[in-house]
Amino acid sequence: MKNILVVGSAGQIGSELTLALRDIYGGDHVIAGVRKTKPSEKLTSTGPCEVVDALETDALINVVKKYKIDAIINMAAILSGTGEKNPMLAWDVNMNGLINILEIAREFNMKQVLVPSSIAVFGPTTPVDNTPQETILKPTTIYGVTKVAGELLGDYYVKRYGMDVRGLRYPGIISHETLPGGGTTDYAVAIYYEAVKNKKYTCFVNENTRLPMMYMPDCLKATIDLMQADFDKLNFHSDYNVGAMDFTVADMAESIRKHIPEFEINYEPDFRQAIADSWPNSVDDSAAREDWGWKPEFDLDAMTADMLKAIGEKHAKGLI
Ligand code: SER
Repeated sequence: MKNILVVGSAGQIGSELTLALRDIYGGDHVIAGVRKTKPSEKLTSTGPCEVVDALETDALINVVKKYKIDAIINMAAILSGTGEKNPMLAWDVNMNGLINILEIAREFNMKQVLVPSSIAVFGPTTPVDNTPQETILKPTTIYGVTKVAGELLGDYYVKRYGMDVRGLRYPGIISHETLPGGGTTDYAVAIYYEAVKNKKYTCFVNENTRLPMMYMPDCLKATIDLMQADFDKLNFHSDYNVGAMDFTVADMAESIRKHIPEFEINYEPDFRQAIADSWPNSVDDSAAREDWGWKPEFDLDAMTADMLKAIGEKHAKGLI
């Protein structure tokens, strides 16, 4: 891989992944593809930025030609909460955007396409604890439906066209750089911001809600490790389970109270409770560990300390 295009570069994962890839491959070799969102100064000052939309074929092809792109990472997606409010939009962006990118990758002989998936591929009939790599995929959200179809599509392009398509099933991703948007796991980020700003938080899922989660440094490591793994060692392609930690919202509150003892939390579950309840408690990621050496670093308390420090600094500077 020489020239990588990251579609969805202004998003929660895309923004940090683009910077991490620029550190490895060089700023000029990692093109930030942004849609309408204004890219951060960090993105515009460290390498090229282009306006692209996963659905706009011509704009994508122009960028592919201009920078001789040989790998595409598709981080553009409508997440679970927004998807339930607008299922057609979720289908359009997540499916038509994906097949568009896969077709461009095929036409231009890309060396690799990275297509993220999610724990949202699982559903209420999937085993909830230590969810296996190979298991029942019957999600009940449109987001999950598109992610299952996306995994199958990625694997289809591998088999049918001999392409290198890879993907991982991200758990909830927690970070302090760019806010997530429209997901069910967003509470696990919001709780830290509210703890710093107001010392209290009203959570939209109940205290016993347990989900697999991952801190951004581990998310970047997982993504880059999978991208760099030897293709011949991969027993799976678009659907690797990756775990790091799992905890309830009450566990998060307790971890925060080690730093902010007066932190208060209350619960007003909304429609996202049912979504969270349909997802696993934890996942079995032994295939990722065996095939490409996956190993997470952060646990809940280490992440909490880091999140509160980073958000506290932003707050002290008046940035949030
Ligand atoms: N974070 C996503 C969501 O909550 C799950 O992949 O929708």
